[in-house]
Parts: sequence; C-alpha cells; structure tokens
Amino acid sequence: MLLGSGELGKEFVIAAQRLGNFVIAVDRYANAPAMQVADCSEVISMLSADDLETVVSKHQPDFIIPEIEAIRTEKLLEFEQRGITVIPTAAATNYTMNRDRIRELAHQELGVRTAKYGYATNLEELVAISDEIGFPNVVKPVMSSSGKGQSVVKDKSEVETAWKYAIAGSRGDSQKVIVEEYINFEIEITLLTIKQWNAPTIFCSPIGHRQERGDYQESWQPAGISPEKTSEAQEIAKKVTDALGGAGIFGVEFFITKDEVIFSELSPRPHDTGMVTLISQNLNEFELHLRAILGLPIPYIEQLGASASAVILASEKSDSVAFVGVADALSEKNVDIRLFGKPNSHPYRRMGVALAKANNVEEARDMATTAASKIKLVEG
Ligand SMILES: Nc1ncnc2c1ncn2[C@@H]1O[C@H](COP(=O)(O)OP(=O)(O)OP(=O)(O)O)[C@@H](O)[C@H]1O
Ligand SMILES: [Mg+2]
Repeated sequence: MLLGSGELGKEFVIAAQRLGNFVIAVDRYANAPAMQVADCSEVISMLSADDLETVVSKHQPDFIIPEIEAIRTEKLLEFEQRGITVIPTAAATNYTMNRDRIRELAHQELGVRTAKYGYATNLEELVAISDEIGFPNVVKPVMSSSGKGQSVVKDKSEVETAWKYAIAGSRGDSQKVIVEEYINFEIEITLLTIKQWNAPTIFCSPIGHRQERGDYQESWQPAGISPEKTSEAQEIAKKVTDALGGAGIFGVEFFITKDEVIFSELSPRPHDTGMVTLISQNLNEFELHLRAILGLPIPYIEQLGASASAVILASEKSDSVAFVGVADALSEKNVDIRLFGKPNSHPYRRMGVALAKANNVEEARDMATTAASKIKLVEG
C-alpha cells in the first residue's frame, strides 16, 4: 500500500508491477499519477487516523510505503505493532515528518555537522534567535515541504515578514519555525542511500541539483564532488540512516562548501532529484527502493554516464491538461521525458520531467533543460 500517489509513487508502482506485486495506491484526490498504474486505489485524508484504519483494515497490506510526509505517522506505529511492515520504519517516518526531530537526531544525538540553527514559537523568540544565528539566515516552518513558508532573511527588518510567511506556509496548526544559518554552498547534493535488511548499506553516485522557490529545477549525476567529500557524505548518510533503521532508499541532502560537507535533511523514500536515475543508472531509485523493501539482491549499481533531469512546470491553472511540443522534445538522441498524468495544473506545478544523457554533465543539463522548455501545457 502506497501512501501518496504522485510522480515518484507512479514510477515506484511501475517497478513493483514489473515484479508482479499487487499495489494499492492511496492519495487525497482521485486519478493521482500512481493510481493510474496501480491495481486499485483509495481516496482518503492521510492525516486522518480513521481513514487510514479503514483502508488498511480493508486491504490488509503486507507493506505500507509512504510517499509523502503529510501522514498521521502515529497511526503507522500502530500498524507496525500489528505486524505490517512500514517502510523504512514507522519511527523513521515520524522522525522525518517534521524538521526538528530529524535535526535533533542528526546534530544532537549523532554529532553530525549541520547549519547552525535554533527554533522559535513566536515573533519575539524569532527576533532573539535570529540575532544569535546572524544574517542572512533561513526561516522555515518546522512542518512544511517543497520550500513552503521558507524565506531567506537578510537583516533584522525582514524578520517579521519571515515569521508571518512561515506561519502561513506551515502544515497543520504548528507555530514552530526553525532558523538556520545561511550556507553559501558551492553545490547541493542528494546522496541516494540504500539501506537493506540483510546486506550492507550502498550508495548511488551523488546527484547535484538546483532549487528555485523551494522546488528542484534540475538535477545531474555525477555531481562532480571529490572522492573525499563523497566518502564523508556517505559516512554521515550511513550514520543517520542506521539510526532510523529499516530498509529502503533514502534521499540524503547535503550542502557542499569549499571545505565542508553539511547535512541538511533527508527523505526516507525516493527523492525528486533522483528522477535523473531514470536515465542515469542500470537500476533507478524506484527499482532500488523496491529491491531493498523486498529484500532482493542489488548486485551492482552502474552509473551510465553524465546525465541530467529538468522539470516541466505548468504556468497556469487548468482542469483539462494537454501538452504540445512532445515530438520536438523527443527528436533528440539520448533524450527522454516523463509526463505524470496529473489531472490538473496550477502555476509551477511539476507536470513532467525531461531526461538526458551526454558526454559531460554540462551538455546533459543543457539537453534536458532544452527538452523541458519545448513542452508546453495547453487546454486539453
Ligand atoms: N540553511 C540554508 N542555507 C542555504 N540554502 C538553504 C538552507 N536551507 C535551505 N536552503 C535552500 O532551500 C532548499 C529547500 O530547503 P529544504 O530542503 O530544507 O526544504 P524542503 O521544503 O524540505 O524542500 P524539499 O521538500 O523540496 O526538499 C534547499 O535545497 C536549499 O537550496
Ligand atoms: Mg529539501
């Protein structure tokens, strides 16, 4: 049972179907991408314990596989106690649902280097902690994803605006925000980390990415960071994922500065920037997730050469989505696309992704971005 049925879920279901699994796709709206390829689907509020109980009792899944953060994770603990395997573990989904718990685990308990940070639950506290951390800093709601409610604060005069923006962008009624030192990184990376039930933790080649408005715009592999920094990131990723336990793929995010590898956050599931692996590896992140979950062997992860992904975004609101430019985008050698089949669009909603492979990363990024820019949404 997949909780969350977006584009990452869709590719995961395809991988699962290829090995003959029966998949129940769940989300809060009908005809979500993963539902289109699953055996059956359910539309519920995943923040409702009662709704979760209803679908789990009905289908009796062997595995519950969260695809998003916004799930009533306390209920997952209960399912786990009843003998259903929650991926990677119910505790891990609970740790990573909010920014503060995973940060405390990484920094306080495991001593991992993170950006300097502090918390605030009202404006006065935010003013005080901002002074302590200094400017610029980054203010984020403790409960949010995709950059919602997040802003870079340049000086004291902007603190109040950041507070209001964070509270407005917070999921649920949480009033807690995290303030982080602004890291002037050279590159940010996702280290896809595969934790297995009965085999060692393994890694994909680091993925570089570029973010705008809190969402990734392009990603590429290899990231081009040094072997030393790669090992350091691997060591940190292993430490944190070992503490979380279970099995499955994790997207571990790092900021890489000239001298440092700084842990940022992690997803206990495939990562959006990891969509580049749909073209860049012998086994993509969804296939790796599936094999890890089912305890199937992963003999070798082969990086197939310089590759990139670039997102295809909507520019307008529509309930009847169609695309033009697809043939043009696909006319290039070593370019591929995915269109997610989302039933409606709004500005900046991710509707698809372009993938490219080339002789070097620069060329691959250029090809993916060009292909993505050729595809436009129109009223269907
Ligand atoms: N302390 C920081 N210093 C510099 N840049 C930052 C910092 N924190 C966040 N960012 C930038 O904002 C992006 C989004 O931040 P973060 O990953 O913490 O939030 P998110 O909402 O969980 O995003 P997503 O769900 O897309 O991963 C980062 O990838 C990075 O580009
Ligand atoms: Mg992130």
